[in-house]
Amino acid sequence: MERTALISPAEIQQQLAHCDAVAQLTAQWPDRPLAFVDTYGCQQNEADSERIRGYLSRMGFAFTHSEEEARIIVINTCAIREHAEQRVFGNVGALVHLKRRRPDTLICLCGCMVQQPQAARKIRESYRHVDLVFGPHALWKFPEMVRALLTQRGRTFSVDDEAGSIAEGIPVVRQDKIRAWVSVMYGCNNFCTYCIVPYVRGRERSRSPEDILAEVRQLAEEGYKDITLLGQNVNSYGKDLAEPLDFADLLERVNAIPGDFLIRFMTSHPKDATQKLFEAMARCEKVAPVLHLPFQAGNDRILKIMNRRHTRAEYLEKIRALRALIPDITLTSDIIVGFPGETTEEFEDTLRVLEEVRFDALFTFIFSPRPGTPAAAMDDPMPRSEKLANFERLTALQDQISEEKHAAYVGKRVRCLIDGLSDDARYDLTARTPGNRLVRVVGDVSALGQFRDVKITGANKWSLFGELG
Ligand code: SAH
Ligand code: SF4
Ligand code: F3S
Repeated sequence: MERTALISPAEIQQQLAHCDAVAQLTAQWPDRPLAFVDTYGCQQNEADSERIRGYLSRMGFAFTHSEEEARIIVINTCAIREHAEQRVFGNVGALVHLKRRRPDTLICLCGCMVQQPQAARKIRESYRHVDLVFGPHALWKFPEMVRALLTQRGRTFSVDDEAGSIAEGIPVVRQDKIRAWVSVMYGCNNFCTYCIVPYVRGRERSRSPEDILAEVRQLAEEGYKDITLLGQNVNSYGKDLAEPLDFADLLERVNAIPGDFLIRFMTSHPKDATQKLFEAMARCEKVAPVLHLPFQAGNDRILKIMNRRHTRAEYLEKIRALRALIPDITLTSDIIVGFPGETTEEFEDTLRVLEEVRFDALFTFIFSPRPGTPAAAMDDPMPRSEKLANFERLTALQDQISEEKHAAYVGKRVRCLIDGLSDDARYDLTARTPGNRLVRVVGDVSALGQFRDVKITGANKWSLFGELG
């Protein structure tokens, strides 16, 4: 099997022709064609859904938040933890009634979950109201599959373990006018022993710098203010390219694009986060002073069986080196509690890393066995109640640290991006600090989409509060 399938411009043109053929059909429908796209999982999936919307829009669909109204329902799934899958199966199961009432509604399932053979089999056998199932590798062929369904009926499954693809030129309908995602690479080669991503997203492959820079340039021209470069492990960007270019070089090039916008990126793997990257972050004025650097566990024995290929000391050394260059850097991380065989004593090493680093925020998870990954077959004797107790100790410690770190903002003026309307009636707007902390702001809504000084007047463990001025 080839490692990367480069989808040619002609192949995408063909898909666009399929879109146009579908548009001719939808134009004849008595009601306005509406689509509902629901996305689970990470930003990678959000970015994929924006391409699915791009294709759907070209097919003549507008978008609705109501499954009842939609003529096509697309559910973009995640497989990272069992809980994510259970939610999808629950929601898809509930659609059986809708399908009975409105058999014309097309129900499509895509994304990481369906790329797993056992999940695809379950849908084939037990969720017969689902019309179309396709994995991430087949996304670029979505128009062809929709057209076939509309003209021939029957069910379609496209979940083969194909080579991971790179397809340029797929239309995009973005969800937001201020923040945008730009994938710089796809897939992952790391095979952390708990993780399903390499199995469902294929091997690492980098987009060409020209394509990435053209996309960022266009976003900057359209007025986007906050651009996140995406990949499962952006620090290995470029390893598969002919030209010698790494992620730090790419950051410098993106930084050189004219415009008033912030550059963020995720995710970085500690083993590949280099001094060169830190120096590029310090030098590039558009790169936000924030790093999401997952360390997963604080104990070296556990890190080793997780196949993370870094030690706790190496991790802490990288944080020290980064802070020497950017003292006020915002730091966040991912942590897994209850990896198979982790004792409570070993878990306490994770707490010590928290105390030493003092992260601004954490994403914490209880280990969830993923079928087919090595960790799923490992002996896991700790009772769930003990894992939960450890998890609670972890979140309690982090809550305290987050609260203290947030309290230190009070009284300061911070240049923030005003990025949304507040759902809390006491505040008008939401904003983000350069380090991406949420601020609820009192002020005029005309500031939306602008970088503005915000006076921080209050804080709790989740967010900051302030006023424009
Ligand atoms: N590529 C990123 C992470 C992608 S998944 C990285 O390497 O950091 C996001 C997070 O989900 C991971 O960092 C990990 O903390 C968590 N995760 C992944 N698989 C998991 C599993 N089987 N059980 C619990 N948490 C998991
Ligand atoms: Fe999963 Fe590890 Fe790859 Fe992240 S680096 S996606 S945790 S295998
Ligand atoms: Fe989930 Fe796939 Fe992302 S498994 S976390 S949607 S890469």
